[in-house]
Amino acid sequence: MAYGVEQQPDLPPVTDWVNDWDWLDDQWGSNAIDIWNEVREHCPMASTERYGRAYMPVTMEAVTQVSHDTEHFSSVWVNVSRPDAPRSPAPPITSDPPDHHGHRRLLLPAFNPKNIATMDDDLRSFCRDLIADIGDRDTADAAEQYSQHIPVHGICRLTGLPESDADLFRDWIHRNFQLAPRDNRIRLEVMTEMGSYVDRLLQDRLANPSDDMLTMIANAEIDGEPVDWNLKVGYVRLLIVAGIDTTWSAIGSGLWHFAQHPDQVARLVAVDNDDMLWQTASEEVLRYYAPVTMARKIIADTEVAGCPVRSGEQMLLPFPAANHDPAAFENAEEFQLDRARNRHVAFGLGIHRCVGSNLARLELLVALQEWLRAFPDYRLDESRVTTWANGQVRGPRNVPVLLR
Ligand code: HEM
Repeated sequence: MAYGVEQQPDLPPVTDWVNDWDWLDDQWGSNAIDIWNEVREHCPMASTERYGRAYMPVTMEAVTQVSHDTEHFSSVWVNVSRPDAPRSPAPPITSDPPDHHGHRRLLLPAFNPKNIATMDDDLRSFCRDLIADIGDRDTADAAEQYSQHIPVHGICRLTGLPESDADLFRDWIHRNFQLAPRDNRIRLEVMTEMGSYVDRLLQDRLANPSDDMLTMIANAEIDGEPVDWNLKVGYVRLLIVAGIDTTWSAIGSGLWHFAQHPDQVARLVAVDNDDMLWQTASEEVLRYYAPVTMARKIIADTEVAGCPVRSGEQMLLPFPAANHDPAAFENAEEFQLDRARNRHVAFGLGIHRCVGSNLARLELLVALQEWLRAFPDYRLDESRVTTWANGQVRGPRNVPVLLR
């Protein structure tokens, strides 16, 4: 298949989010919640022609419908990009039924709650070491010096990926999510670099097996048949891109939020770590600041929120927008530390619901507890800039704070 390799021309800033939305527009990162709320006041689904025709539903009802409908919506395209973008499989996230189930079953056991719970002490001491590195300084960057490191540690412990390659993983993630949707050359470069890196790792595990997930993947079989090598490489590429900046963004958003709400910090540090308030608070971070927006390729004509959509077009799946729908949440616009009914969809819905949610929840909870207890008086440093990643995984990449 021939791919267009030229870069999409520079696009003008969005002025009409209902008819011309763009998830790589500079306004998206810091303003996405306002954007979704504004669109929802006009209609349940926005559209754009910037990546071919692509839709953006913003209600819980529409997002739920698309997530559960694998007959009209395929996961072969999981982000809105140029229609001629090079894509390569990273199952289970890029697979449809019936193949999806076997791939998912392979990855699930490592992420079961019992296995993940054993990581609590290790994650906690990793967070404490990061805090100790900050020492008695008066200022810090809570994203650069803290949140970005925790998920890399978690995923490397769980899979056997080398933590010393953390900078490489973050570079791939940045190029893949921030630059590649508009630039096929970058997408191809990242796919090739990641592919040969993972290929080497898996070949090494075949030669030198160890007791880790990479060895399991290198030898993976489904129903007694060996899995295609290219798909095994895809599993690991997926674990790298799904397991790092997602939770990094959730932790960073939580720290950015609490840096501006000292009253909520005081309530949290006053209770024990196993108090329900910590649970409801981190679920509310996940609802309010849900980082992950997915997408689908439309494979058969149908209707969403009363609008006809056609085969070949793209459908954004903004779970974070559904989390702000007032039809689904009481006082959706309020961040409530003790929100009791919170059926948020930060981890998705339906057959592709997040495999790593137990790990993500533990990392988020531990990271918040350790930071807030270490720096109960920290606050946002308004004199420096908070920067946000836009697109598929939205979250702060710099959170400048005053610590005392
Ligand atoms: C706060 C952190 C996280 C959030 C918000 C999140 C969100 C999501 C969402 C929304 C999906 C659904 C995809 C779809 O419908 O197309 C998903 C799937 C997935 N996530 Fe996560 N995720 C997080 C952390 C993680 C972690 C730590 C891992 C571990 C590697 C992980 C691995 C996966 C995998 C493998 C899938 C694909 C599942 C499937 O297709 O059956 N995620 N995630």
